[in-house]
Amino acid sequence: MPTFEQLSCPIDKQSLSLQERSLVCPNGHSFDIAKSGYVNLLPVQNKRSKDPGDSKEMVSYRQSFLNLDHYFPIVKHMIDQWPDALKAQSPCRVLDAGCGEGYYLHHLLNEFSQRDVLLQGIGLDISKWAVTAASKRTKNATWIVGSNAGLPMPDKCLDLVLCLFGFPVFSEFYRTLSDQGYMLLVESGEEHLLELREILYPSIHAYKATHSDGIEGFTLVAESSLHYPFKLNSQDEIHQLLCMTPHIHKASYEGKEAVKELNEISVTAHVKFRWYQKATEEDHNAE
Ligand SMILES: C[S@@+](CC[C@H](N)C(=O)[O-])C[C@H]1O[C@@H](n2cnc3c(N)ncnc32)[C@H](O)[C@@H]1O
Ligand SMILES: [Zn+2]
Repeated sequence: MPTFEQLSCPIDKQSLSLQERSLVCPNGHSFDIAKSGYVNLLPVQNKRSKDPGDSKEMVSYRQSFLNLDHYFPIVKHMIDQWPDALKAQSPCRVLDAGCGEGYYLHHLLNEFSQRDVLLQGIGLDISKWAVTAASKRTKNATWIVGSNAGLPMPDKCLDLVLCLFGFPVFSEFYRTLSDQGYMLLVESGEEHLLELREILYPSIHAYKATHSDGIEGFTLVAESSLHYPFKLNSQDEIHQLLCMTPHIHKASYEGKEAVKELNEISVTAHVKFRWYQKATEEDHNAE
């Protein structure tokens, strides 16, 4: 069972300790644990907007779509590629940075518990709606409202940072990872949802690879991709998928109207996985 006591105060970085239903720091900052079990460690002064991150509506569409398990092969692929060094780590301290409504962390915890690998999971997202949904999904992880830009946890306290379709802040991932710790970036590939994008947009933008020059402080240790078709069987399913992606805001009116006419569609999932390992301080300084 994960513990809240590894976290640090987002205001002054002091260690937090659990006192009844709150986390408190020695300087008197106090953060209540919500009924569903998450804690909000996003200080008001760090909020760029009143309701940052994914909206309640987007979270609910993402949850409905993910629960159809069309993306479960992503979970399986992560498990298949999981580094042996992390399997040997017990417990393996994992942060899902930008966890959304917790689908991936929940399934990873579940799957690994059946394989006798002990994961200690922390899910963090800037959206309180996402974290509320995640904390209702499972109590087996520590759920935090917070930002990747200032992780409320001490240096070198993690063995793995996951960032799936998210907004990585590499300096923070570097700081919080132990020496030799791992980072997994999961992103969509060039053909991801292509059939839907072809209807939504008059032309498809050329694909631009991310981080092609490498990431400071990290060494790429493994790269793979997953490519498979899946079928959306109703307008509801199509709408749920559309509403959990940026396409709902970016696509033209005509494109969205054309998608509304569909009652089924077969689409491609194309997902890229990059495993990195934290470079040693000497390697990093020599860069
Ligand atoms: C595309 S969603 C992906 C969610 C989840 N990883 C998944 O794949 O289902 C991106 C998530 O990043 C969150 N987010 C945006 N900015 C963030 C930040 N600075 N720190 C943490 N999470 C952030 C959003 O609230 C949203 O839940
Ligand atoms: Zn404090």
